[in-house]
Amino acid sequence: MRITFISLFPEFFNEFLKHSIVKRALEKKEVSFDFINPRDFSLKGRADDTVYGGGSGMLLMIEPIVKAIESVKEKNSYVILLGPRGKIYNQKKVKNLKKYKHIILISGHYEGIDARIYDYIDEEISVGEYILTGGEIPSMIIADSIIRLLPNVIKKESHQNESFEKKMMESDHFTKPLTFRGKSVPEVLLSGNHKEIEKWREENSKKNTKKYLKERKENDF
Ligand SMILES: C[S@@+](CC[C@H](N)C(=O)[O-])C[C@H]1O[C@@H](n2cnc3c(N)ncnc32)[C@H](O)[C@@H]1O
Repeated sequence: MRITFISLFPEFFNEFLKHSIVKRALEKKEVSFDFINPRDFSLKGRADDTVYGGGSGMLLMIEPIVKAIESVKEKNSYVILLGPRGKIYNQKKVKNLKKYKHIILISGHYEGIDARIYDYIDEEISVGEYILTGGEIPSMIIADSIIRLLPNVIKKESHQNESFEKKMMESDHFTKPLTFRGKSVPEVLLSGNHKEIEKWREENSKKNTKKYLKERKENDF
């Protein structure tokens, strides 16, 4: 998969590429990245301007962004704008996006992007009901979540039991020490009885899912 980041601040992504699973996916050539700066498509390097009708902030201009998209877009590219009024991102969406060969992720900044951008994108995605300074962190969230699911990046079994798979939350996990400040690891996990361990994990996963769903309802904005 190829992922293109369109951003005024490409240096934001430097560390993202250097570590852990993303680094591994790059080394295995399961993913490639490119970075396009809309400033390179603007007059005198200026990609933002004041807002028509008044208002304090600056807005990204349409022309440099559209030219940036056009410089990389191919027939099968899927163009995503990161923005708070987009559909809220979830694991179902991750699985859907993983099917594309080329994804273009557009980061807004300041007050956002001139609204004529909506004629040039396939979809707007929000990473949650709050406002961030720019689309760079949301773009990394989208890229990271997809890369984990690409072939040969992590073991299939590892993500098959993760939270949100099969609409369930994962069961609790423990490692050494056996007892920490008086609290011990559940006995059954030390029993070596795989059937009993599996049963405990299933029940614990159900309990975690119930708690998660209850809290999600209470947390609606
Ligand atoms: C400061 S925000 C602009 C917010 C905009 N003025 C509004 O009120 O909806 C700047 C940029 O950050 C990104 N951004 C902020 N919050 C986001 C979110 N929850 N999900 C995805 N992108 C977000 C978008 O790319 C946005 O254009």
